[in-house]
Amino acid sequence: MTETQKSATLSLNGDTYELPIFSPTAGPDVLDIRKLYAQAGVFTYDPGFTSTASCDSTITYIDGGKGELLHRGYPIDQLASKSHYLEVCYLLLYGELPTAAQLEDFETRVTRHTMVHEQMHNFFRGFRRDAHPMATLVGVVGAMSAFYHDSLDVTDPWQREVAAIRLIAKLPTIAAMAYKYSIGQPFVYPRNDLDYAANFLHMCFSVPAEEYHVNPILSRAMDRIFILHADHEQNASTSTVRLASSSGANPFACIAAGIACLWGPAHGGANQACLEMLKEIGSVDRIPEFIERAKDKNDPFRLMGFGHRVYKNTDPRAKVLKQSADEVLELLGVEDNPLLQVAKELERTALNDPYFIEKKLFPNVDFYSGIILEAMGFPTSMFTPIFALSRTVGWISQWKEMIADPQNKIGRPRQLYLGETLRDYVDIEKR
Ligand code: CMC
Repeated sequence: MTETQKSATLSLNGDTYELPIFSPTAGPDVLDIRKLYAQAGVFTYDPGFTSTASCDSTITYIDGGKGELLHRGYPIDQLASKSHYLEVCYLLLYGELPTAAQLEDFETRVTRHTMVHEQMHNFFRGFRRDAHPMATLVGVVGAMSAFYHDSLDVTDPWQREVAAIRLIAKLPTIAAMAYKYSIGQPFVYPRNDLDYAANFLHMCFSVPAEEYHVNPILSRAMDRIFILHADHEQNASTSTVRLASSSGANPFACIAAGIACLWGPAHGGANQACLEMLKEIGSVDRIPEFIERAKDKNDPFRLMGFGHRVYKNTDPRAKVLKQSADEVLELLGVEDNPLLQVAKELERTALNDPYFIEKKLFPNVDFYSGIILEAMGFPTSMFTPIFALSRTVGWISQWKEMIADPQNKIGRPRQLYLGETLRDYVDIEKR
């Protein structure tokens, strides 16, 4: 972060204040208002943080106008086509692509942590048998702090590293267990001879009664979905993780907070909501009716999987997923999948509609991912847990960056108070 010679002048009640300007390596300049309240006695007002840089970071960069997403400078489409998920995890966590030896060591460390404490199986059994896997995931990840006491001290870099590896390694196991529990099947232990994505499919779809062979095409598609969801700079769930951890809370509690935030339909819950919407639309002839509803201000309905706070152009992840959807469905022999047809026609119609053009609303990552996941055999309730397990590395990378930053301090926004001013308590019989 470089403070340039540039500054902005604020004129307020006859006084002037110089606000330093930071120049990023990419993206718009940033006004430094940290001393504003101390000097001028005013707050800034920005609900939804539409104009606020909450931190500095070197991990992920998005150019919403161009539709560009870079992790440590590498474009997401190159990572999706040339890399694999654990390599991307290494890149996000440590800042550079690994050498072959570094990658082997990292993969070994992750693989050796994929099992969960056996007592956790009992913990799962406390949930209602038909619990939504996201409900189970929030609870079990939070409960990891009760099982892994030796990686809770956030002031110790070694414990932070162990917690990071544990979370990346165990999230697929916990997500798969949440799924198995919700359908009444026995938990399946991880297999160290399988790669990260193949192992997840194995834990979700194998049963003790018969052999399960992971289809390499599906595990490659799964891996690509993991890569595309790995990080996305200061989105709502990442900001939640950062805010929760600014108090010094342990990493498992903070990641559970991130999972809770992700669950909402405006964020990671949109993938489930999008597939349910495509099913409700059902056929291309009903698309105009839903487009009209999305445009009607008196109807709360929104086109799920459409629009983004930052992208005002196609979400680059959606481009890769659209292509992936075609490939996966063709390889599975279901290329005439009616949902894919509805999705493609809905996209075409919306992108030609003045409402969506004017508001710069494009398909986002959640628009095509559900079609692929459903074709792979996942129920809609597993879509957001899959997003959560993929995003864990992003949350952890941002958390590690924040904790190691000497400027880290507790997050404490202020407010524009519009309530009553001081008044005296009224006894109940006089109200
Ligand atoms: N359908 C219809 N209208 C929309 C949509 C949509 N999907 N998205 C935004 N708009 C309209 C909105 O009504 C508003 O209109 P007006 O200016 O007339 O009031 C305008 O576009 C701007 O919308 P906003 O809600 O102020 O924008 P935001 O940046 O606060 O919200 C969003 C971004 C992603 C929450 C929103 O676009 C949305 O709700 N999309 C549907 C849910 C979704 O797909 N979420 C996944 C996001 S990407 C993955 C992730 O983050 O997890």
